[in-house]
Amino acid sequence: MEVVIRENPRQAADLTARLVARELRSNPHLVLGLATGRTMEAVYSILVRMHQEEGLDFSQATTFNLDEYVGIPPDHPGSYRRYMEEHLFNHVNLEPRRTYLPRGMATDIETECRQYEAMIRNHGGIDLQILGIGRSGHVGFNEPLSAMRSRTREKALTPETIEQNASVFGGKAKVPRWAITMGVGTILDTRECILLATGEEKADIIAKAVEGPITSMISATALQLHPHCIVIVDDAAAARLQHTDYYRWIFENERHWAEFR
Ligand code: GLP
Repeated sequence: MEVVIRENPRQAADLTARLVARELRSNPHLVLGLATGRTMEAVYSILVRMHQEEGLDFSQATTFNLDEYVGIPPDHPGSYRRYMEEHLFNHVNLEPRRTYLPRGMATDIETECRQYEAMIRNHGGIDLQILGIGRSGHVGFNEPLSAMRSRTREKALTPETIEQNASVFGGKAKVPRWAITMGVGTILDTRECILLATGEEKADIIAKAVEGPITSMISATALQLHPHCIVIVDDAAAARLQHTDYYRWIFENERHWAEFR
């Protein structure tokens, strides 16, 4: 795991977008794993700008989103399909049939989950996965006690997550109780992943996820087992980390970061 600390949310999102863009330029057929949430909005707006102004080309890429709510239609304002259309899909040249999200309206959720895993496999696996982190430490919707080897499945949301996402649905009572999410094992199988977290409300959970013991109570700690994981935080989200001087030194001195400094 590598931790990169940037001064503010804008710079953290900018680095994330530039890393995605670099992968896409070196491999136009990239299989890109996508995440939702407020933190990612800045990343998508930078990618859209790169597409419009620098010709960043998504036409050959395939995307797989981490998760989707169960029981709400794709055009519902709270659905992740709708989020992706608004923030990315409608503004870049991704081929719509290669933008995959679990289908929360599927009649047989178990089959849908199995097929989602098969689809990822058939595309050769995910090359680069971007991740946010929930206050409960979830990645995707892998709530506490998600098995480290779990695959795509239906998961019940915790009260904390429901509260966190209530504003989009107009109140807690309207938030779906269930979601389909890639499993922790699915995420650990990605070739490379980037976790982005910004703001002081993420400082506690980032310290636990990065420097704490691995536990299924905090799914993001599983990323410590990932062979190629980069954690990008701003100063505020880094506030509770112990080894910030070490992380900063590496970013300033490691050759592979030179083009991003
Ligand atoms: C939702 C998503 C997660 C995301 C989290 C953080 O719960 N399922 O994948 O990481 O939100 O959201 P935010 O960036 O708004 O804090």
